[in-house]
Amino acid sequence: MVHGAYSFQGDLALPGDKSISQRALVLAPIARGHGRLENLNTGWDCQATQKSVEQMGLKFVNEDGGVEIADKSPQWNRGGVVEAGNSGTTARLFMGMAGFLASGASYIIQGDASLSRRPMERVARHLRPMGLEITYLGTPGCLPLRIEANEELQGIRQLITVPSAQVKSAVLLAALSAQGDTEIHTPLTRNHTELMLKAMGADIQWQGQWIRLAPGDLVFPRRWWIPGDFSAAAWWAAAAAVAGQITLRGVGVNYTRTGLLEILTAMGAKIRYSKITTSMGEPVADVEVRAGDLQGVEVDPSLIPRCIDELPVLAVVAAFARGRTVVRGAAELRVKESNRLEEIATLLSAFGVGVELRHDGFVVTGQHRLHGAEYEGRDHRMVMAGLVMAALTPGTSMIGDVRCVGVSYPKFLRDLRQLTGCLLDE
Ligand code: S3P
Repeated sequence: MVHGAYSFQGDLALPGDKSISQRALVLAPIARGHGRLENLNTGWDCQATQKSVEQMGLKFVNEDGGVEIADKSPQWNRGGVVEAGNSGTTARLFMGMAGFLASGASYIIQGDASLSRRPMERVARHLRPMGLEITYLGTPGCLPLRIEANEELQGIRQLITVPSAQVKSAVLLAALSAQGDTEIHTPLTRNHTELMLKAMGADIQWQGQWIRLAPGDLVFPRRWWIPGDFSAAAWWAAAAAVAGQITLRGVGVNYTRTGLLEILTAMGAKIRYSKITTSMGEPVADVEVRAGDLQGVEVDPSLIPRCIDELPVLAVVAAFARGRTVVRGAAELRVKESNRLEEIATLLSAFGVGVELRHDGFVVTGQHRLHGAEYEGRDHRMVMAGLVMAALTPGTSMIGDVRCVGVSYPKFLRDLRQLTGCLLDE
């Protein structure tokens, strides 16, 4: 239960970036050398990724707040079951990693009910021409599936049309184990895989939408500090843009992720970067956000891939802005952990917000008479959006099931309390 309305004040360090953490974990067995990962995201999705890599034969030890690569077995396991849980990134990155398995090795990848409804053929259709065998064991196109490596993979030249970093990354991982170069043409999405492959010594180039990667050795860094997760910072940046002033420390501010800050600035929030550094090719900064007199905006569809996970919280901000906020080009939200377009409409209308659903987006008319509400969700990002909405809205709200914040941001409730002083009855 949350009793609003709060203002968000203070200073916060963020959990490690989930996407970067998951990629660092899957690259650990491939790269030469033993290293230490610091500020690794500890959510359930990253735990699933860590376990999937351990299934292949690598051991990690969690020590003194860091994760060490303990033992790289010379011989990888020849098969097993990968439990991807709720994590699309784990399932799809593992599919790309399968190229490294010994000939004849075979893995089954399965997930929870939400992940088992999500599309996997978008990855499989690119990996089959490289030489991987992928068989669906239940509903065609969905988990569970079996993946086998029976021949040496071949590099490919392909057009990827789905705007998905997971698809792109699976192909790039497979390309590392292939004979010959791989060239892909792919829509702009988060580019963490490209940046870290370069930082680890890969022969990779990109220009516009083209990426070329040659197979070759990678070197794991001795110490790898994972930047704070922009998608975790986004909850507080968005809330402070409505009501408050906040400094977020050590946030990954990769251009392919920070679309929300551009939208909040256009709406009237005040945003400033300081202490800019880099970690493994990733830009990092402290981000200060101050509330403004927010005005609704039309979001340029070209910005959508750069804020895809932040659209639920953008919808919340739009509820407090004057006028209409229009989001188009976001059909990918329908195939996330839930159908997030439908969920955004359900959440906002419960609070009395004017919201219109479109096939590829939504229109929110802000500053209706808002009131506390009940919202029950299972999707971590929708439940966190519900909690931010409840904290900003006068009245009493009931948000459940809050345990699912553990998927990406286990300390979300602690940080919400710290920034608002809000008393939550759990
Ligand atoms: C992710 C990419 C995005 C994002 C997801 C994490 C990644 O999904 O929504 O939370 O780590 O590559 P898509 O690549 O499918 O758009």
